Amino acid sequence: MAKKDEIKRIAVLTSGGDAAGMNACIRSAVRCGIYNELEVYGITKGYQGLIDGDIEKLGLRSVSNILTRGGTVLKTSRCMEFKNTKGRKKAIATLNKHKIDGLIVIGGNGSFKGAFELNREWKKGFVVGIPGTIDNDITGTDFTIGADTAVNTALDAIDKIRDTVHSMERIFVVEVMGREEGFIAIRVGLAGGAEDILVPATEYNIDDMCNDIRKGRKKGKISWIIVVAEGTASAPEVAKLIHQNTDFEVRSITLGHIQRGGSPTAFDRILASRMGAAAVEALIKGESGKAVGIESDRIVLSDFMIACQHCKKKMSLDKELYKLTRILAT
Ligand code: F6P
Repeated sequence: MAKKDEIKRIAVLTSGGDAAGMNACIRSAVRCGIYNELEVYGITKGYQGLIDGDIEKLGLRSVSNILTRGGTVLKTSRCMEFKNTKGRKKAIATLNKHKIDGLIVIGGNGSFKGAFELNREWKKGFVVGIPGTIDNDITGTDFTIGADTAVNTALDAIDKIRDTVHSMERIFVVEVMGREEGFIAIRVGLAGGAEDILVPATEYNIDDMCNDIRKGRKKGKISWIIVVAEGTASAPEVAKLIHQNTDFEVRSITLGHIQRGGSPTAFDRILASRMGAAAVEALIKGESGKAVGIESDRIVLSDFMIACQHCKKKMSLDKELYKLTRILAT
């Protein structure tokens, strides 16, 4: 294992689903690394690039004008080969060949699991993770890079849908991304004034929902927006059931990958910049197998093992927000 004063060359990669703010984070890691007199390398296409030896030295100008851009200039991938020891051996060979002492992995849950294994098997360097995913499903951080932008993108779509749904007195079912956690669904539901939100944690019941809709109509309510978290049910399926149960006109939309793109919000740019700087600092201090996080606006570090666990704290907050959404929607 390298000693802390031996850190001279670090590398950065982005892995898994891209998220707005990843570029801001790369920029921060590169510039803070150079500020601290380190050599900084970029690895293309995540763990796949590490296996293939796709690595290049980055300078201050390599990251010019990327702060505002969505996606990731380093490209990303979901790499199956890295899940087995053979693949990781090739990745370690690349790191050793280029004399890298510290690696920064920007990604989500799956990427962190890979980083945890790599950190155990790589004897000559340190790995530090930065949570970058729209899903906000990482333990040890209140927010992940890209989640705020995704919520705002989905909100913009829902605000537009509200114009048509109200004008035509309809029910609209909107499916948002975010895997099982439902972070985007709950936030966008509350912010967009949704009448109901379907996420695994809310244990939804179509019959109850249809009863609420019928009661609402009798009281003069004319339009509904129902937000569905992907993985809970599909929007067209829910729309069909509501129509069959109520006979009201229902439309549906799946927002999909537009939620991953676009220019990051100020929140995500600031978060990404702080986290990039914190990861470099952690490597310089000799931290290893750690994930950077933010809790109550303070940068924290937690073990990869903890970061990969299911996030119970966020689930209870989600229930509180769900309850409020339902009260406000009456
Ligand atoms: O993890 C980010 C995410 O966008 C999830 O919300 C979604 O389930 C998944 O990635 C989609 O993955 P892909 O882009 O590989 O289809």
